[in-house]
This record gives sequence, structure tokens and C-alpha cells, in this order.
Amino acid sequence: MSNLEKYVIIGGNKLSGTVRISGGKNSVLTILPACLLSKGVCTIHDVPRLSDVYVMKEVLECLGANVVFTGSTMVVDASMINVIEVPDTLTRRMRASNLVMGPLLSRFKEVKIAYPGGCSIGSRPMDQHLNGMELLGAQVIERHGYIEAKAVKLAGEEICLDFPSVGATENLMMAASMADGVTVIRNAAREPEIVDLQNFINSMGARIRGAGTDVIKIEGVRELGSAEHTIIPDRIEAATFIIMAAITQGDVSVEGAIPEHLEAVIAKLRAAGVKIVDLKEGVRVSGQKRYKCVDIKTMPFPGFPTDVQPQLMAMMALSEGTGIITETVFENRYKHVDEFRRMGANIRVEGRIAVVKGVKSLSGAYIEASDLRAGAALVTAGLAAEGATVVGDVEHIDRGYERMEQKLRSLGAQIFRTNGSGVRK
Ligand code: UD1
Repeated sequence: MSNLEKYVIIGGNKLSGTVRISGGKNSVLTILPACLLSKGVCTIHDVPRLSDVYVMKEVLECLGANVVFTGSTMVVDASMINVIEVPDTLTRRMRASNLVMGPLLSRFKEVKIAYPGGCSIGSRPMDQHLNGMELLGAQVIERHGYIEAKAVKLAGEEICLDFPSVGATENLMMAASMADGVTVIRNAAREPEIVDLQNFINSMGARIRGAGTDVIKIEGVRELGSAEHTIIPDRIEAATFIIMAAITQGDVSVEGAIPEHLEAVIAKLRAAGVKIVDLKEGVRVSGQKRYKCVDIKTMPFPGFPTDVQPQLMAMMALSEGTGIITETVFENRYKHVDEFRRMGANIRVEGRIAVVKGVKSLSGAYIEASDLRAGAALVTAGLAAEGATVVGDVEHIDRGYERMEQKLRSLGAQIFRTNGSGVRK
């Protein structure tokens, strides 16, 4: 994918119709590494075609797994794994590559990965992952840019996380799945993707319960075998389309959205004045002329997701009144604000707080995506802005949205991908 690729959006079209949500990015990025636990063959359905998924496929292949991706089904045969090391060239491309640590440590008692690359939304350390692995009996060494973990044997332990980190919870569930005895993870993350991971590993023969609560109990088993699993729908993609429908005053059925995964988002949107009703399989969003600003504070699940903060900010930028956003999960997640300002938004940032004063209209401008969700938020703003918006660096969006422009066009948006250059003045 070239970084010259851009979206050109002509704002002002109301979205209408039905959009189908793809399998969850964050779910598949933990379930694919979990396949490394298995001595059998794992078949995963509803795998979205995202650039992050292709990177994870490369990671599994570099370890010696055989991966076949047909349609939306991925078949992973990790029975012949012969490498326990992931090089810098892959870990730098995607932080989630760190999720191979837990499964490789569990199965081979040894793993070595290059330190996952920095990330534009915050420093994202690995201490919670590594402390937990040490408690299970691994010796962890960080040197020459690599993290190595080795164990003679892994034994069940009580692990209490300082913060309910999603990645640490997942890595430790996988690391403990074949340890001797029982592991208890306290202050565990409760995200739906963790429940999906538990269901998948249990279908391989593991004994894990409690995912979805803050205490997860893992009874180690001797080995894990073949499994077949369907990935849950992507709740962040669903939230993004709900907000896009709302901001364009559209009328859209978001098929596959699971209201229980979106409670905090739906509650805030309803408070702002968006009409959302449950359907048999999804939700229907009916947009209004103008919304009220609301206050939001990002929190681990079931709180308001940090991954939806930029998109909701786009909607608030065009709402009545003033709203306060407090970002508690990542320290540097306001890079979209400068871009919104180019469009005429009135937003002030002080540390972790953003004060959004709604304006009547935004005007199309040349703006750049700094990360995945910021990119989605810029597209959201562009759909409602007057005139043409050009969003640069759309490869960030391809990391986590499957065919975003096709889905939007099918709802009536005018959005095109170009690889031209020199639009910026
Ligand atoms: C996952 C999601 C990401 C989402 C985030 C928070 C995936 C692939 N990515 O990322 O989309 O934005 O959850 O919902 O599922 N932290 C530490 N030490 C650690 C681990 C984390 O201090 O060892 C901190 C991080 O710096 C961050 C916070 O905890 O401030 C949340 O991170 P975490 O929940 O681990 O997020 P990820 O798993 O990286």
C-alpha cells in the first residue's frame, strides 16, 4: 500500500441503507496468535481483510506456520512451528505482534521478539505482560532491542494487573493455558475480544473461565488441538458507522453491531440526541439535524472506548454547546485535533482534556491521518463538511477498516481513493 494514497470526500450526503460489519480486528489479532498454541489445525471464519491481519499472517508464517486465507476464512496449521523468534522488521510494523509471546512461551517454554515499535498514540510499555510471565516462572531478559522469555516449566500463579491491559490479559491467558495448575488473573481486562479469545482457546481444549469479568481462572491442560471459530463483529467499526450515519443525518442499519458491546457508546450518542434502535441483528441509526455536546471519559470496557474517542469528537465538533473529553487510556491521543481545526473546529487541548465547542459547519480541507482511529474520525468529519476533504495517509485506515470506502459508497457517500500527489497547498 502506498503512502501516497488518499481519500477524496465530497461532504454533505446523508448516508442511507444497510452496512455489514466485518469480523473484529482486535479479536482476530489475538485469535491468530492463539493458533500457535495448537498442535492441530485451526479454522477461523469472518477474518477481515485488513493490513494488520496480513502482517499477523506474515508473523505466523515466519514462525513456520502454514496459513491459507480464502475468502474470509483463514486456516492455520501451526503443528510444525520451528522458529520461536520474531524479527524487528515485523514487530515494528504492528504492536499486536507481541501477542505471539504468550502462546510460544506456553508451547515451547521459550520466545524471543524484537521490542514492539513505538506508537503514535502513546508509549505503550509491556511491563504488565512481562511481570505476569515472570510470575508464571519465566525468566525475562531485555537486551539488544529484543525481549526473551524462557522457562524450565510454567506453573499456575495469582497475577494481579496494575491496570486492566487488554494485551497483557490476552498474553497471560495464553501463556497460562498449558501451565501446571491454576492461574488467576485479577483486575483483568473485560473487553468482548477477551471473551472471544477464551471461547476460542476453550474450543481447542483449554479450561478457562471468567473472561468478561475482572477475574479469569485458567486451569492448565497438557496440550491443545484443532478448533473452528467465528470472529465476533468489530464493535469499533460498528461504532464508527453509527457515528458516520448520525453526523450525516442519515438513516442506516448497522448489521452485526452487538448493542451489549456498545452500551457506553450508544448511551452517549442517545444523550447527544441520536436515535438508535435495536434490530434483530444490529442497530438502526436515525440522524437528527443537530446534536448536543456531551462529556466523555475514556475507560477500559465497559467504559467508553478510547478507540471511539476521535470519531465522537468529530460529531461533537458539529454539535451545540461545549463538551469535555477526558482521555485516560492513552496519553497522546489527540493528534486529530489539529486536523479538525484546519476544517474550522473549535477544540482546545490541555493535557488529557479536550474542550470541544461545537460550530455550525466544518469546511473541507487537506488533512492527514496520524493513526487508525484518527483517520476514521477525519473521514467522519469529511462526510459532514462543506465541499471536498482530502484525507492523506489512508494506509492507517486500511489497518483496521475493511473496504471502508466501498462500504461508505454503498450508503451513498462520495468518497474515492486516489494515489495522486501534490493536492496540498
Ligand atoms: C488494545 C487494542 C487497542 C485499544 C487498547 C485499549 C488490540 C490489538 N489493540 O491495545 O485497539 O486501543 O487495547 O482499549 O487489541 N500499559 C502499560 N503496561 C503494559 C500494558 C499496557 O502501562 O504492560 C498501558 C498502555 O500504555 C496504555 C494502557 O495500558 O496506556 C492500555 O493498554 P492496553 O489495554 O494494553 O492496550 P493494547 O492491548 O495495546
